[in-house]
Amino acid sequence: MPTENLSDPYAWLERSLRTLHQAHWYRDVKTITGRTGSVVTVEGQDLINFASNDYLGLAGDKRLIQAARDATQTYGTGSTGSRLLTGHRPIHQQLEQAIAALKQTEAALVFSSGYLANIGTIAALVGKRDLVVGDQYNHSSLKKGAILSGATVRDYRHVDLDDLAQQLQTQRAHYRRCLITTDTVFSMDGDLCPLPGLLALAEQYEAMVLVDEAHATGVLGDRGAGVVEHYGCTGQSLIQMGTLSKALGSLGGYVAGSAPLIDFLRNRAPSWIYTTGLTPADTAAAIAAIEIVNQEPERRSRLWDNTAKLKALLSAHFQVLPSDSPILCIQLHSPQDALQLAQRFQNQGIFAPAIRPPTVPTSRLRFSVMAIHTPEQLNQFESLLALL
Ligand SMILES: Cc1ncc(COP(=O)(O)O)c(C=O)c1O
Repeated sequence: MPTENLSDPYAWLERSLRTLHQAHWYRDVKTITGRTGSVVTVEGQDLINFASNDYLGLAGDKRLIQAARDATQTYGTGSTGSRLLTGHRPIHQQLEQAIAALKQTEAALVFSSGYLANIGTIAALVGKRDLVVGDQYNHSSLKKGAILSGATVRDYRHVDLDDLAQQLQTQRAHYRRCLITTDTVFSMDGDLCPLPGLLALAEQYEAMVLVDEAHATGVLGDRGAGVVEHYGCTGQSLIQMGTLSKALGSLGGYVAGSAPLIDFLRNRAPSWIYTTGLTPADTAAAIAAIEIVNQEPERRSRLWDNTAKLKALLSAHFQVLPSDSPILCIQLHSPQDALQLAQRFQNQGIFAPAIRPPTVPTSRLRFSVMAIHTPEQLNQFESLLALL
């Protein structure tokens, strides 16, 4: 077989990487050593941590660590199979009951990640004859989930209810089912979805609603149940998903809603049925985290106090994107500007990542506040701002 004239089918990879470098879109990992907290050691340098989603500071909490150790002792490291075969333990059910109680829903289902929760739920709910309409800034897992489902997918302009109404009015009648999807806290902006108006439109056009509470759970609402609680929409007919990996300091995702919904997902969500159950350690850590969310509302108060302080500091020096959450973003002109500012902050002992296209349409520096940032750390940040 002649080989000399065959081109390398993988050569495009290096060409694509060169293009990413030229556009300043290239990404690489940074190694963090030691336990996570409000200070982290990044490649040997101690930095005040404004880069994690660990809003309540639970990922390094000794109670979660102990719960994970105990569960590993009891059940072993892996759950050894899918939940429907050998992967179901009493602690999975305990966690699902705790999530349903927090969200005040009839039931909940735990997935092995939030990404898998969105992909599997959307695939179970809609197909070729259906329509998904989502906010243009939705998380990748909602967007990819919609595409993978085979439904017709349309975006509406960010938090724009008029545009959503217009799309529902012109499109809804052509499809069997309709699903509206939205982040409740937008992960790379920090603003909130207009939930009450969105639910009203869903009712008018007979659409299901899937809200992604990944950055809201444990953070918003009087009891930390999320944006649904924050807007007084608890108990309304909608599907709530979220993750155990942010304010809850563990790993895994969940869907909370009516008993028939959860029963249906157990039977039809491929990313729940055909994957290994959440590890005992992650499951037990998440149970411990929800107990803390229930019992220590003062953590949320500290988080919001710290958020107000950091917002005021950043706003005095930079253009900060509108935010109603502990996610605060400085708007910048180019990916290069974002990378340079992130480096200048890092040189001064601050860890805040540059977020660039294609993750977001415009480049920015993203700060996420933690309940465990100390007044001293915030004062130190204030002094450093003057040096930039
Ligand atoms: C809004 C949103 N949804 C879903 C996810 C996915 O969650 P997980 O990290 O548990 O896969 C994330 C996390 O990156 C997120 O920010």
